Amino acid sequence: MGWNRNRLTEKLDIQYPVFQAPMAGGMTTPRLISEVSNSGGLGNMGAGYMNSDEIREDIRKIRSLTDKPFGVNLFVPNLGVSAQNEEISRMEEVLTQYSSELGIKEKLLLPKKDYGTLYEKQLEVVFEESVPVCSFTFGIPDSNVIRELNKQGTIIIGTATNVNEAVEWEDAGADLIVAQGSEAGGHRGTLHKEESGLIGSMALIPQVADAVSKPVVAAGGIMDARGIAAAMMLGAAGFQLGTVFLTCRESGANPIYKNAILNATEEQTVLTKAFSGKLARGISNRFTEEMEGQQLLPYPLQNDMTASLRKQAAKLEHPEFMSLWAGQGVRMAEEITVKELMLKLVKGTEALIDGK
Ligand SMILES: Cc1cc2nc3c(=O)[nH]c(=O)nc-3n(C[C@H](O)[C@H](O)[C@H](O)COP(=O)(O)O)c2cc1C
Repeated sequence: MGWNRNRLTEKLDIQYPVFQAPMAGGMTTPRLISEVSNSGGLGNMGAGYMNSDEIREDIRKIRSLTDKPFGVNLFVPNLGVSAQNEEISRMEEVLTQYSSELGIKEKLLLPKKDYGTLYEKQLEVVFEESVPVCSFTFGIPDSNVIRELNKQGTIIIGTATNVNEAVEWEDAGADLIVAQGSEAGGHRGTLHKEESGLIGSMALIPQVADAVSKPVVAAGGIMDARGIAAAMMLGAAGFQLGTVFLTCRESGANPIYKNAILNATEEQTVLTKAFSGKLARGISNRFTEEMEGQQLLPYPLQNDMTASLRKQAAKLEHPEFMSLWAGQGVRMAEEITVKELMLKLVKGTEALIDGK
């Protein structure tokens, strides 16, 4: 049996245990996802911020481009989040200084959003479309949701950032567990206290693999075949890569963002709450630096507050105010097509593991 065949590839019915990470924010286009799945891996839609119609449309596009399995990723909302009016006004004031710099005329106000309803509607589409794989981050869905997904034959993936969270996910009924090391780009998937979810992959993967019986998917800092082979030695059965797919031709990342990734070095990535109120790793810029020490709103309120700022910055091609999520392996990113990247990953791992 070659390196690529294991109980995870059997369960998912895919050729290679290589996942393109779900990445919310428009980067995981149907083209990116389907190219990954057509190359034998698993493409995943970052659907956390998408409404149900958008998700349905993308699922249908993916299905027109591939008959292979793919995944949809959702954020489990924490509905108890609130902030005092004074805190909100203070943040509105802090951000207004940046919005006027970007030429936004209207005063920045916190938009009202109903994340509970959004999540319910997202789930409805996942059920209706019988999506092959559904992954979750930021929380664990309740048992009714897990039951319904099981009924549909949907494979459930949970994101853990320490051993206790991995065990929680296994107990809740996850089929696969993503162990997200602190090298990872984007938001931490931590379920509880943020400081408890900052373990590096080298230490996290073997400890999670020892603690759970379900297959473990390593995420964080894997950019090439060496990373895959190393994570395999540490006990992972699957490998989820995010940053390296952002600079693929088929990714929907803004060219300014792609360019920032292609030119960044590992020490330039920082963990910041400045954009969203939740810890996330990205390339440092004026916004992450100047917001340090500010009293931020909790997630998702801070994220909602900075949304128009980020949008305008992207429109004006102004990277200093964009969230440039990227992992610590950023120096290894290159401009490439999905097919080329998948071939490099697969052939490189084969050479390292199977000695071919
Ligand atoms: C731009 C970006 C957006 C992300 N969005 C999500 C998301 O919506 N859901 C999720 O579970 N993980 C998300 N992640 C985390 C990835 O699933 C994965 O853990 C990470 O990319 C792995 O580390 P790497 O970037 O070093 O490969 C995101 C990562 C990036 C870089």
